[in-house]
Amino acid sequence: MHITIMRYALKKKILFFGMVFIVLMIFLHPDINARRSYEYIDKDSILDHLHEETAENFTSSAVSDCDYRDVIYDDTTLSIRLVDDDLVEGHRIRVGGESAPQDCKPKFSTAIIVPYRDRAEQLRGFLVYMHTFFRRQKIHYRIFVIEQVDSRPFNRAKLLNIGAVAAMKAGYPCLVLHDVDLLPLRPANLYSCTLLPRHMSSSINQLRFVLPYLNLFGGVIAMITKQYQLINGMSNEYFGWAGEDDDFYSRIETYGLKLCRFEAEISMERRNQFTVGKTRIAADGLSSLKYTEVATVLHPLFTHIMVDL
Ligand SMILES: *[C@@H]1O[C@H](CO)[C@@H](O)[C@H](O)[C@H]1NC(C)=O
Repeated sequence: MHITIMRYALKKKILFFGMVFIVLMIFLHPDINARRSYEYIDKDSILDHLHEETAENFTSSAVSDCDYRDVIYDDTTLSIRLVDDDLVEGHRIRVGGESAPQDCKPKFSTAIIVPYRDRAEQLRGFLVYMHTFFRRQKIHYRIFVIEQVDSRPFNRAKLLNIGAVAAMKAGYPCLVLHDVDLLPLRPANLYSCTLLPRHMSSSINQLRFVLPYLNLFGGVIAMITKQYQLINGMSNEYFGWAGEDDDFYSRIETYGLKLCRFEAEISMERRNQFTVGKTRIAADGLSSLKYTEVATVLHPLFTHIMVDL
């Protein structure tokens, strides 16, 4: 009886010191959570950091250039309920999910690349919402949905590579790599590339429909197409959810690039640093991309590329 009580007290002590230790570790090593450094761009200097370029062969009949100041200072949010609605008429979208403002000449052409499988209802909501959202942004854009049709584990990074290749062929100078379950709320979150690759989904308040996996990092990245080519895209080797983001960030850093974000905010990232050598980067990525294109269909709201990896 006595011994049992002593053991109990000892256990309590161990538990207590263990907790203290863990709490201290968390407080004394904040860099565990902040190993990645970001360049923060405040609102007033966003316009100076944008990469102005439109797609090869894109023409606009508008006379004056679009002005993005009112987009950046737009404080409104869109209603998330839009995902349940139908698209409002009047937004001229060309087959394949491409659109551009009519009344001014856009300075940006952006390919939105969405890796996808099995979430038809979510995709529908995403498309309606995004086209409505882009209407306020005055950019030229096109939405590419890359669907993995085989039954192997989902390979998000490889699908992004395939989408990037399609966007390059269509002449887009800027890529936005986009998960289908993330929606930007503020029209101020301009879908264009900055001079540095930009992590878009952490600096905005956004909503996920579901959380099928913990992905605080992936989300939405904007990157100049030439930079994506420079780092040889993403690795093709990550089947299933995990690791591809770290690999991607490591590529970005290996080539001397740095990520940026619009306006600072408490960051949520964790995960360990991870490096890949230039040799491996050169061998795995756009340069080694192999897949079977099952079909490409131009839908009214998006370009649908079905692939067997
Ligand atoms: C742009 O137009 C030229 C001439 O018609 C064509 O050769 C080229 O492939 C086009 N580029 C893209 C990206 O479509």
